[in-house]
Amino acid sequence: MKILLNSNLNKLQKDFYFNGFISLNIKDNSEKNEFLKDLKLWDKLDLTINNKWKSLYKNTYDLIDVEKIKNKNIINFMKSNLFLEKIELITGRKLVLGDFTIRKTYGSENYLKMHRDTYIDKKNKLVGRTPPLIKLIFYPELKNISTQLTIIPKSHKLIFNNYFINKFITIFQKKYNIKNNNNNVIIFQSDIYHEAAKQGNIDGNFRCIFNFCSPSQLTSFKNGKKIALKFNSKK
Ligand SMILES: [Fe+2]
Repeated sequence: MKILLNSNLNKLQKDFYFNGFISLNIKDNSEKNEFLKDLKLWDKLDLTINNKWKSLYKNTYDLIDVEKIKNKNIINFMKSNLFLEKIELITGRKLVLGDFTIRKTYGSENYLKMHRDTYIDKKNKLVGRTPPLIKLIFYPELKNISTQLTIIPKSHKLIFNNYFINKFITIFQKKYNIKNNNNNVIIFQSDIYHEAAKQGNIDGNFRCIFNFCSPSQLTSFKNGKKIALKFNSKK
């Protein structure tokens, strides 16, 4: 299989290992345009009264499972960009897509505060999926540009044997903001500190979240096997 990462691979591997996140370019192709068309159509809907969308967190609406799985444009967008293959090259891990979410977020309050998806809790217990998932998020720019995600670079490597010191990291470490952009996606290790940004405008913004995991973790997702069958076949 021909994957064009060129001499970039070494830099991407270093950045992903050390900083815990990277961005990858989106190809300018018909698959991208078709997916953007869907997003623009969804953006015009009133999701609060649409039965194809449901609210999981306050001020957010997700495309329901049946609809997202049957949507061809999402799979074509992902496959035409070879994101799975590229992430496997960068991480050196065999990965599959376990789950994905198409979500619109509204409101001046962020729906998820600064957190790690995998962490050690107050009782010194490991919480969340292990190994941590690799997340790929596409924040489309449909109307205006604003911060969508804040992360703390390197925080996936900054883990202390004390719950409160771990919390202090979120105060003192330098933060990095990610804005919506039609030309690239962000990929990060899910044990890095990350936070969904507040939406300054009432119109809201979309985020398309893809969770990559080890094949053995597929069963931890409700539709993992169904999604894997559809998405993980290689071209
Ligand atoms: Fe998270």
